[in-house]
Amino acid sequence: MARVLIHGGHVLDPRSGRDERACVLLENGQVAEIGSDVQAGSCERVDATGCLVTPGFVDVHTHLREPGQEYKEDIASGGRAAVAGGFTHIACMANTEPVNDDPSVTEYILDRARQDCPARVLPIAAATKGLRGEVMTEMSALVDAGAVAFSDDGKTIMDGGMQRRVLEYSRLVEKPLIVHAEDLTLVGDGVVNEGSVSTRLGLPGNPSVAESIHVARDVQLAELTGAHLHVAHVSTEAAVSLIREARARGVHVTAEVTPHHLSLTDEATMGYDSNTKMAPPLRGRRDVDACREALADGTIDCVATDHAPHAVHEKEVEFTEAPPGILGLETALPVVWDLVRSEVMTPMQLVASLTANPAALLGLDAGRLDVGVPAYITVFDPEQRWKYDPAKGFSKSRNSPWAGETLQGRVVATIVGGSLVYHADRGVLAP
Ligand code: DOR
Repeated sequence: MARVLIHGGHVLDPRSGRDERACVLLENGQVAEIGSDVQAGSCERVDATGCLVTPGFVDVHTHLREPGQEYKEDIASGGRAAVAGGFTHIACMANTEPVNDDPSVTEYILDRARQDCPARVLPIAAATKGLRGEVMTEMSALVDAGAVAFSDDGKTIMDGGMQRRVLEYSRLVEKPLIVHAEDLTLVGDGVVNEGSVSTRLGLPGNPSVAESIHVARDVQLAELTGAHLHVAHVSTEAAVSLIREARARGVHVTAEVTPHHLSLTDEATMGYDSNTKMAPPLRGRRDVDACREALADGTIDCVATDHAPHAVHEKEVEFTEAPPGILGLETALPVVWDLVRSEVMTPMQLVASLTANPAALLGLDAGRLDVGVPAYITVFDPEQRWKYDPAKGFSKSRNSPWAGETLQGRVVATIVGGSLVYHADRGVLAP
């Protein structure tokens, strides 16, 4: 395996607290040396001048669409989008066709990932068969096949008794249960946040209480069962408060927030652009500010993209008809780096929310940059401005609210298992 020297950059590693200008030498898939004066000899060189050199980003929430919806994305294209966005590890949701509710599907995903995906793929298995919320999956068989967590994401388990049992079993197999908290009876036909924006648009609203009512139920069930509850895509001030209180009581609850819920309000929906439609919907200013504060104070552990590719023909329809979801992998870093620019978080805190924290909650040996650890590394320039054009990106889909925008902050290089798999000037290099 080639030796790689990353030189001229500033190393930030939240786990060790390392925060210094240094070169990083990679050898045999591991970090061999970090220092100001590394004698590398002949090796591949990555110029990181002006860049931060951090552990590889870990996304706990990606939709890869394979098996079954490869016209939107597949494991190879999603993996290329991941490394272009600095993600070395992506945990993929179970709402594929067929659903990942059987060990054969989990094994298929891992096989495909080993064949032609430059990022490490971590399958999240369904908690209930067919995501129908009626019959539990065989959790221990799914764990044996490689599942890292359980989730019916995209769907909510409405039956409280079933949710309790799913939590009890996920505790037994020692994996988190990731919940999509939206009470379907309260969401109704809602497609945008309920409030003045939904009124002005004349579109049915999805109230913020649809989220918080389920977070209230689920943190109580987590307290009852002692299970690890992870709340996906938190979007409301009320849910943030419930999570904060539960954590203070010692309940094992973790949470994620998406780049879009940290940066866009429901005002972005005013043009009826279906690329601003997602579940949960974009919320009001107070909700966005509460999510930003919660990520900064540690109530929310990590940023997760909820990368949700949908084809052009599916999105270019009336707002009410379009499927919810937007791309996230290739734009996450510049979108969330705004929290550093606006001094809501330090660079170290934000890097932790993309690396050490998501790795810890999935129990991965990743999210670290230190001598002797496996070499998963992201190099990015927080200042570089670039125009995002999804047609030139790596995802098969185009559904992004940032299409055509100039973003600040760019991933320059991504290293997976000691190999340079992406460079901004050269594209995706492997496999
Ligand atoms: O916007 C979303 N899209 N939210 C989800 O929970 C599911 C996802 C999808 O699969 O498209």
